[in-house]
Amino acid sequence: MNKLKNSKEVHFLLLLSFFLGCFAEGSSFLVPPQSQQIFKLRNQVILEDAGRESSSQETGYIFETDLHVNSVWSRQEDQLLEIFISESRVLASGKDRSITAIPDRPFYVSLVKGQPDKVIAHSGRDQSLLNLERGIASLLQLRLDGPVEEELDVSGLCRVSYNVKSSTKIEKTKRDCALWDLRVNYHPEEALGVTQRSKELTSYELSSDGSLLKAESVEEHQLTLAAKPDVGSLVKSTFTLQHVSQGPENVKQLEQDTLDGAIESLLEWYRVFQLESDIDGLISAIKEQTLEEQLKASLDDLQSVDVGKSSLALAYVKLIPLARIARQEQIEALLKEHTELLPQLVDLFGAAQTFDAHNATFSFIYKEAETTDEELELLEKYLQSLAVATHPERKIVEHLHDLLQLEAIKKQAKLSDSIIQTLSVLTRQSEFDVNDVLLEKVRAFLLQGLTSKEPTLYIRALQNLRDPVTIEPLLDQAQSREEPNLSVAALQALKAFPVGSFNSSHRQQFEGIFYQRRRRFDSSARTLALDIILSLRPSQEQLGHLLDYLASTDRQFEIKTYVLQKLRMLAEQCPRFKALFKTELVKRSRVNNYNVLGQKGLTTVLARQLSLSPAFNESLLSTQEVYQGILKRGSVEFLLHAGRAQASSFKLGIYTAGLGSMVGDGGTDDGTDNIPADDDLGGEDTITAGMEISVQGSQLRPLVFFNGQTELMGHVWGGTASDTTPAYQATTLAQDNEHYIVLASGATLHWQVLGARSVDLNGKVGFSLWNRNAQTEIQQNAGSAVLGHLAVGFTYAKLVQDFTLTHEPKLSLEAHLDFYSGIKLCMQLQRPEQLLKQTSIRSVFLQAVARPYAKHVRSTLSHKTAGCTFALNQKNNEMCNIIFNDY
Ligand SMILES: *[C@@H]1O[C@H](CO)[C@@H](O)[C@H](O)[C@H]1NC(C)=O
Ligand SMILES: *[C@@H]1O[C@H](CO)[C@@H](O)[C@H](O)[C@H]1NC(C)=O
Ligand SMILES: *[C@@H]1O[C@H](CO)[C@@H](O)[C@H](O)[C@H]1NC(C)=O
Ligand SMILES: *[C@@H]1O[C@H](CO)[C@@H](O)[C@H](O)[C@H]1NC(C)=O
Repeated sequence: MNKLKNSKEVHFLLLLSFFLGCFAEGSSFLVPPQSQQIFKLRNQVILEDAGRESSSQETGYIFETDLHVNSVWSRQEDQLLEIFISESRVLASGKDRSITAIPDRPFYVSLVKGQPDKVIAHSGRDQSLLNLERGIASLLQLRLDGPVEEELDVSGLCRVSYNVKSSTKIEKTKRDCALWDLRVNYHPEEALGVTQRSKELTSYELSSDGSLLKAESVEEHQLTLAAKPDVGSLVKSTFTLQHVSQGPENVKQLEQDTLDGAIESLLEWYRVFQLESDIDGLISAIKEQTLEEQLKASLDDLQSVDVGKSSLALAYVKLIPLARIARQEQIEALLKEHTELLPQLVDLFGAAQTFDAHNATFSFIYKEAETTDEELELLEKYLQSLAVATHPERKIVEHLHDLLQLEAIKKQAKLSDSIIQTLSVLTRQSEFDVNDVLLEKVRAFLLQGLTSKEPTLYIRALQNLRDPVTIEPLLDQAQSREEPNLSVAALQALKAFPVGSFNSSHRQQFEGIFYQRRRRFDSSARTLALDIILSLRPSQEQLGHLLDYLASTDRQFEIKTYVLQKLRMLAEQCPRFKALFKTELVKRSRVNNYNVLGQKGLTTVLARQLSLSPAFNESLLSTQEVYQGILKRGSVEFLLHAGRAQASSFKLGIYTAGLGSMVGDGGTDDGTDNIPADDDLGGEDTITAGMEISVQGSQLRPLVFFNGQTELMGHVWGGTASDTTPAYQATTLAQDNEHYIVLASGATLHWQVLGARSVDLNGKVGFSLWNRNAQTEIQQNAGSAVLGHLAVGFTYAKLVQDFTLTHEPKLSLEAHLDFYSGIKLCMQLQRPEQLLKQTSIRSVFLQAVARPYAKHVRSTLSHKTAGCTFALNQKNNEMCNIIFNDY
């Protein structure tokens, strides 16, 4: 026996031995042998909106029935009970309906050593009724023969603990039951997931001779969105067995010598079932609506002009469950019929993640060498939607892998790039076993690609794969490649890995890059290495080194500005880091002075809260890295927060190279220029600029604005770069969760949450060599919707909740760069007013009874967040004033 850890346990054992002493005569039966006991069984289930006062109208049902329990066989501690269910009814809102359909033949429960072991029932055809019988059997589970930690019952294997209150009162707490979290789909990103809180307490009341007077299970399941804990459901259920009386006559006994023999004698009509339930699939059956009908009904919301609106996101999430059960021919027919909606439909079928949807879309659009540019774009759009999938069918991943071996695909560079990126993300999201053949094949394929003519493409794919095995090869790329763009790409990929993937030897290598211990590195490579070092939580000493660096002779002022801004941002976000930062700063007078802390670079790093509860907690992380007065690498990232977890919803990056040689001169020969020139690294001769987009952590193929001086000139003189161009327009899946819970009464609960974001991103880049200025304008219109559906109940009564949550966060970011005399950069970030709308409909149904009954309770809630312009930083304000005064 385990050592007794505390007095509570001693107390328990004392009471226990008292018990065992009492019943030493062998009467450890809850239902005395040969007797008939009559019980009332009652199950009440209540459904509430999470986060709302319970004063709102109630939705709930009650099921009541009488049980006649006969002990028809018993030897030592084994027993067979025969149970008749009669006088059943369901009630809701004062309506009372009798159930006449439950057959009057009994079911049986076998008990081994006093504990329920099997249910012997007529058949498993009515899953609800069988589960109810398992629930009744489970209420008879009361173990007084020593400390138990696990029990198997109607809710599967649970952790249990007993609390003996007196010789006739015992409580049992159940935790972490296996059937409380039967996942169909779940989102690996915590912030896009759901939060569940479940608990159950069963209390027992016995008579002085140990027979059962009352058993009552009280449980609660709170199901909410992780990112918005006030949205969701609360389900409470009470399941009570109350002793009413003892039957008059002695019960006729079965003659067999063994329990097995007694059970055997029933098997002509009955079957044996485990206590553990199977879910009742009827609860999650989709109502009689086909994909075709639902699509027809939502046509008005699915047009191209609707991209970026929440109405489209809502229509999209309503279609997903139907798209997931649609067959290939059905989907092909829809693609054929609605050609004007193809961009929206390929988004939808990407979210379906079934092979039927995949093969339909691919076969419909892809025509090998004959595929038109328009069709190729659609295919890429489909692949980008598929890339945020969290549970793709394996056959899809295999198909993408096989496609890459085809000559026709290899010739279509953009398509093959998109396939590689999607394949890499899906391989990660599928969470294959480390030794999975497919994972090994994909990894080998990508690593092989590092030696190809396009290593950056494969580095980006490794970023999407995030396989710890590839950390070393990526670090090798970062440190040994001469081309700056490759080491930057490799570090960008490494930055995407979870912090826990790195060990101390990796950290030293990142430090080697940042401090340039063995060779010089591109400034972006260094800032990326710094980002990783800081995410690894530097020790006091390591932070000290960073501060010393600020006062070093390194002439890369923009990097010093980056370090300082990043440290200040982290200090703003984390009080503990702030304290550490201050302590180390005070120790260093060399660093802690205006010359060092007033770095003159134009680089900015900042985080701003975009919205707070009662809206979603969203923030923005902006990094604008400047080199020789030109934006070299800029990114704006939107983060969704849920407690400590955060998820990147969207990231927009801009990169340029070689532009310094075109505009840099204008400022530097001006004596009043307060921006010191950085050390020139050289090597970055190709003039190029482009945009990189990542959607929910999946990095898409980059869009190149121009490559080479001739192309740039074409844009500048042709003015093409100055038009507002749609940069990204798509609707993608966000929340994607589905799971089941089996209650103590055997009732099944089904919960599904689907969310989508529709994004319309426009960009404008104006560049005038004549006026020596440049403007960038980025406009993001996003509409999001979350749809939740919960159903709980059994054949005769059901509670349903449907909730929707919609909002349309818009944002605009403008950057003005003026290099007429000196270099000035002004950034402005604005958000118009936004509205968050929440609706909930809770319903009660009494069904499969003589007069079915239904009731609905509706509620809506909306929340407005005022529009605002975000204050960036002091230097930015000054620059804006100068630029706008000049006009
Ligand atoms: C995919 O679709 C094509 C064209 O309809 C069909 O020939 C092929 O058999 C399908 N593939 C699978 C694995 O079902
Ligand atoms: C990387 O830089 C080299 C020159 O340093 C250039 O030739 C190459 O095209 C660049 N690659 C990409 C993908 O930009
Ligand atoms: C760090 O991990 C790499 C594998 O990624 C391993 O080769 C190396 O030995 C590890 N170093 C330390 C110090 O644990
Ligand atoms: C949102 O932020 C507020 C204020 O910081 C915090 O109290 C709340 O818990 C956050 N909500 C979530 C879901 O993270």
